[in-house]
Amino acid sequence: MGLSIRLPLLSVLVILTFAVLVSVILILEGRGTLTSVEYEHLALSARSYAAAVQFYIQNAKDELDTAAQIIAPAIRANGLDAHALEQVQGALTAASANSTVLDFIELAGIDGTIALIEPQTLEQKLYTRTIGYRRWFQDAVRTRTSVVSNLFITVPTRLPAVAVAVPILDNRGNAVAVLEGAIRLGQLSQAGALQEDGRRAGRYGFLTDGHGLVIAHQVTPRFVAEQTDFNAEPTVQRALQGDQGTLTFFDPVEKTWMLGAYLPFPPAGAVGGRVWTVSFVVPQDVALAPIGVFSRTIAALAGVFALVFAAFSFLFTRRLMSPLDQLTLAVQKAGMGDFSYRITEVRGEEFARLSRAYNDMAGQLGQKDRTIQEHQDQLRQTNARLEEANKELEAFSYSVSHDLRAPLRAIDDFSHALQEDLGDGLGADGKQYIDRIRNAVRTMGALIEDMLKLSRVSRADLVREPVDVGAIARHLVGEISAGAPERKADFVIPPRIPALADPRLLEILLGNLLDNAWKFTRTRQPARIEVGQQETDGLTAFYVRDNGVGFDMKYVNKLFGAFQRLHSKEEYEGTGIGLVIVRRIAARHGGRAWAESVVGEGSTFYFTLSGKEDRLEQQLRASGGGQSG
Ligand SMILES: Nc1ncnc2c1ncn2[C@@H]1O[C@H](COP(=O)(O)OP(=O)(O)OP(=O)(O)O)[C@@H](O)[C@H]1O
Ligand SMILES: [Mg+2]
Repeated sequence: MGLSIRLPLLSVLVILTFAVLVSVILILEGRGTLTSVEYEHLALSARSYAAAVQFYIQNAKDELDTAAQIIAPAIRANGLDAHALEQVQGALTAASANSTVLDFIELAGIDGTIALIEPQTLEQKLYTRTIGYRRWFQDAVRTRTSVVSNLFITVPTRLPAVAVAVPILDNRGNAVAVLEGAIRLGQLSQAGALQEDGRRAGRYGFLTDGHGLVIAHQVTPRFVAEQTDFNAEPTVQRALQGDQGTLTFFDPVEKTWMLGAYLPFPPAGAVGGRVWTVSFVVPQDVALAPIGVFSRTIAALAGVFALVFAAFSFLFTRRLMSPLDQLTLAVQKAGMGDFSYRITEVRGEEFARLSRAYNDMAGQLGQKDRTIQEHQDQLRQTNARLEEANKELEAFSYSVSHDLRAPLRAIDDFSHALQEDLGDGLGADGKQYIDRIRNAVRTMGALIEDMLKLSRVSRADLVREPVDVGAIARHLVGEISAGAPERKADFVIPPRIPALADPRLLEILLGNLLDNAWKFTRTRQPARIEVGQQETDGLTAFYVRDNGVGFDMKYVNKLFGAFQRLHSKEEYEGTGIGLVIVRRIAARHGGRAWAESVVGEGSTFYFTLSGKEDRLEQQLRASGGGQSG
């Protein structure tokens, strides 16, 4: 993937990662803040709800207190006899009719017998006429103060209600009767609901009595009629234990996480530490809803920002890369030998410097390249001239050698004729002279033959083909050893030694080396002659090794000179042209020949059939950039 794709991708990744991190931090932080703000609101709502309820109950109590004061004198005077009841009836009817907070009012004796009920229509519904067994009634008589009850089912309405009981005392302070009013609970749920004004949706409050029974519920007032037990509600539980506070809890009824505030409070006129509880709650997801909006906004912003930035960095990297593309093209062209290309598109100081450096370099390389070409051309011309001269020389020496044969034969023929014709007339000295002339002529003839051989080797066409050096060597060794079957010799020649050479010339070369090896191991029992190949300077060198008499390495360079010999003619016959031919044939293949030896131990003669130049040329040709000449 190119940099112009990777960089934008990277920047998008970085921005999105950053956005996610920021969102997580902000959301966690936001949750904390929202929750504590919500807690404050809930606590405030709970307190106001409690205050409203207190006020409502206080209202009920005040109404009953007022009625009690009105009727107290008649009852103190006459007890609860018919006369007294007749006197108070009117006041109670009015109190009940005018009340906005009471469902009904009962007047009972201190034994709990109901003497009077308002509105009177409820009279028929009374299935019992006593309320003496009610706890709140007993409390009111005992404590002689007003009492607010927990939730209970009233006798006349058979509905859940809360009662306020006001004792009527005689002059000595003893209770003589109890005035009781049943508080209209439906309004309590609404009293809370009034608090909804200006409040956020989803939050609601509820009241329970000291046992956890629902007295008022802003959302589901039916819970009151059903006498639902909220004992298990965590807020209620805590408030019933006397605590006040806020918490996050799992609502077993709603089956959601809720935030809630709670507090216990004594309804007006509570006795014996009796408390009610008020709770204000909201589902957590409602309370934290703004977080959702907030995180969606952040995600959208991050997305837009990432896209813009990606586009920007894509354009930026493209701009940055275009000079690089040009540089790449320039270097590619230079690699193919074209130094004429120059970088033109330059942006920014760094690229300008790079381009200048490249252009300078390309200029200099181009110059050098031209110089080299010129030199090569000169070299080629010189070479051609040299080759021409060499050929002329070769032709000259060949024709001289060739032309020398005829006069030499004439000398030999006529000296032979002299010997034959004059016979004894020559005398002893004359005979000896003629013998010497004829010997010299033979030697000269042999020399001329050798020179012709060398000349032929130099002039012959060279045609390379795949050959097996081993096979040629085996064939030659067979011929050589056949000439002296009595000699013991070990020949070590691998089955196959592949080479690329002119087979005729290679045979002449090997023939000379094997002749020498055979000749100079004459004294060895057995002779050992080995043909092989090895890597030398990265080229394949072939060798012929023997365990013969060897030679002194001091004269190693003399050996390859024409007619140079290190051994006497009497001991080892020969004219000394063999190694010259070897060296010439190797050279004609582009290779060379050399030797190593230890006197008395043996010699190794090496030759190669290609040169380093060949190798270079082959490589150049293989890479397609070579110029042959
Ligand atoms: N295998 C060898 N061991 C020792 N000396 C050698 C060996 N081969 C060549 N020489 C020395 O190098 C000299 C030159 O060898 P070269 O083959 O050129 O000539 P030659 O064998 O004497 O004669 P020609 O090959 O012309 O018949 C030899 O006379 C000999 O002194
Ligand atoms: Mg020889």
